[in-house]
Amino acid sequence: MSANNLTPQSSKISLADIETRNKHKGAIIWFTGLSGSGKSTIATETELKLFEKGINVYVLDGDNLRMGLNKGLTFSDDDRKENIRRAAEVAKLFYQAGFVVICGFISPFNADREEAKALVPADRFFEVFIKCSIEECIKRDPKNLYKKAIGNRIPNFTGISSPYEVPVNPELIINTETTPVIDAVKLITDMLYLKGIINDTPITGKT
Ligand code: ADX
Repeated sequence: MSANNLTPQSSKISLADIETRNKHKGAIIWFTGLSGSGKSTIATETELKLFEKGINVYVLDGDNLRMGLNKGLTFSDDDRKENIRRAAEVAKLFYQAGFVVICGFISPFNADREEAKALVPADRFFEVFIKCSIEECIKRDPKNLYKKAIGNRIPNFTGISSPYEVPVNPELIINTETTPVIDAVKLITDMLYLKGIINDTPITGKT
């Protein structure tokens, strides 16, 4: 027994067994980027495309988790770290269940994203930078939050009063100022195909 009186329990079903039955592998696709950059939009469109192809897929979204599991966490640096730690542990569980998990979190700190990555094998975690300038995010302002943040009505707002660290070596960079959503979905599904996570490219045409 370990020092903290906990003993890991094992399953009679291996991830390889699950993946053989599913006919695809489990993986975590980790979207990082500013609020309003397009993470959720691309995540939900990618989810739909993969679902239609029979892939076990699930989206973990920052706003949604903060309304449940992560309720009560603030946007201080420490709470963002805890937010990402919990999100990454949940993503790991879905990965272990054989899912392709699409995670959409600002996740502004490189160290926290590195910790998330370290939870699963390196060839099953793909960091995707959803790139969009702060000027464009302010222009889009889909949730009307930048206006409030600029008016000092939201503290610690990423890009305004809280930092965002650009990924050092992401698997993919998607510039949403120049890339239509359908093309972004194709970039991601092509990546999954090339990395051997899925066996077919879900998108062959423009539809
Ligand atoms: S993270 O920094 O901890 O990764 P997360 O992705 O969970 O953030 O949540 C970001 C979402 O929370 C934003 O898209 C926005 O809707 C909302 N939000 C509320 N307050 C803030 C804030 N101070 N900074 C950034 N996003 C905020």
